[in-house]
Amino acid sequence: MIIEPRMRGFICTTSHPEGCAQNVKNQIEYIKSKGAINGAKKVLVIGASTGFGLASRITSAFGSDAATIGVFFEKEPAEGKTASPGWYNSAAFETEAHKAGLYAKSINGDAFSNEIKRQTLDLIKADLGQVDLIIYSLASPVRMNPTTGVLHRSVLKPIGDVFTNKTVDFHSGKVSEISIQPSSGDDIENTVAVMGGEDWSMWIDALKAENLLAPGATTVAYSYIGPSLTEAVYRKGTIGRAKDHLEATAFAITEKLADIDGKAFVSVNKALVTQASSAIPVIPLYISLLYKIMKEEGIHEGCIEQIQRLYQERLFTGKPVPVDEKGRIRVDDLEMRADVQEKIAKLWVEAVTENLSEIGDLEGYRKDFYNLFGFDVQGVDYKADANEMVNIESIG
Ligand code: NAD
Ligand code: NA
Repeated sequence: MIIEPRMRGFICTTSHPEGCAQNVKNQIEYIKSKGAINGAKKVLVIGASTGFGLASRITSAFGSDAATIGVFFEKEPAEGKTASPGWYNSAAFETEAHKAGLYAKSINGDAFSNEIKRQTLDLIKADLGQVDLIIYSLASPVRMNPTTGVLHRSVLKPIGDVFTNKTVDFHSGKVSEISIQPSSGDDIENTVAVMGGEDWSMWIDALKAENLLAPGATTVAYSYIGPSLTEAVYRKGTIGRAKDHLEATAFAITEKLADIDGKAFVSVNKALVTQASSAIPVIPLYISLLYKIMKEEGIHEGCIEQIQRLYQERLFTGKPVPVDEKGRIRVDDLEMRADVQEKIAKLWVEAVTENLSEIGDLEGYRKDFYNLFGFDVQGVDYKADANEMVNIESIG
């Protein structure tokens, strides 16, 4: 069928299988062009189908010839209805990995559940024996705690005071002022339960209990800090509390892995257009200014460039992993450069509907957004019939 983008609010409800496949191939080519990385060989990626997790899976496979197991939660296709983009990404990834002679299998389901953890442990036991790198890259609005049965919903709210600032509707380009009410009730606890480190810990405990972690195994989860402009709604808001918890969890996991010399890290990554970040008020305006400046400076990176640098220059150098004063790996260094942030702060004050397409990279934002769903990808014929019924080889 002919597949076109269909928008509902901030999300796109269709995705293009060939556009998604082309995105994956482009990322693979990028990794191959950067040369071999002396990294882990048996890798579990939790949240492997889009964004930073997909980039991690690609970097491990095509940078280090690693066997990968990917866990994700995606919608499969039905006749006349497209799958979610992560499904098509994973199908394309497996096809390319298998062509290259690499082991790659995937598990589609709720990573927070006991059932999906059980399936994953069994697969590692049967096929890989142990894993030596576990990437934890989930982004989800809800989590059912498998122990208590409680369903937690995360919220993106400031804590304490109403937050008022500029935002942009990136579809129309309209800049306006928005006020976000502060968190109340159990908002903070719920957000920490979904996006904090509890589930990461549960995964590592489960793997360790069954001796599925290789000696010296490393686990990495992803975090974000960002500038003072977005602090009230991000790092000092409800989601920031969850990231604080995630970062504290890294230390707790490292302690638990002392006997196998294992280590847990949080890597602070740069702001990028993803399904999640498009839904956060204020952030799209920030990203459109950030993209403009980083592109002008020649220092713009997408997920794949970020993760390539994380592996090659931080994790697998043969030397101790460089971390900041809080023990975190930083690949948001270019975003946070003082000159970059000073320019954004200045543009922020000036930004209005009439000038944003000039002083900000609204076009780049939109393109990245459509790319997430496999649209607006160079080399893809969108007028041609596309087959929506794509299998993931290991799922069938
Ligand atoms: P994403 O939405 O692109 O990826 C989320 C992944 O989680 C997908 O593979 C999805 O299938 C999977 N997933 C979601 N719920 C699941 C569930 N219940 N069971 C199994 N899989 C599930 O998000 P992303 O932007 O790559 O975010 C990954 C991490 O990186 C998050 O911790 C995020 O906070 C962090 N991060 C994001 C940014 C950014 O700007 N986007 C910047 C820094 C750090
Ligand atoms: Na991810």
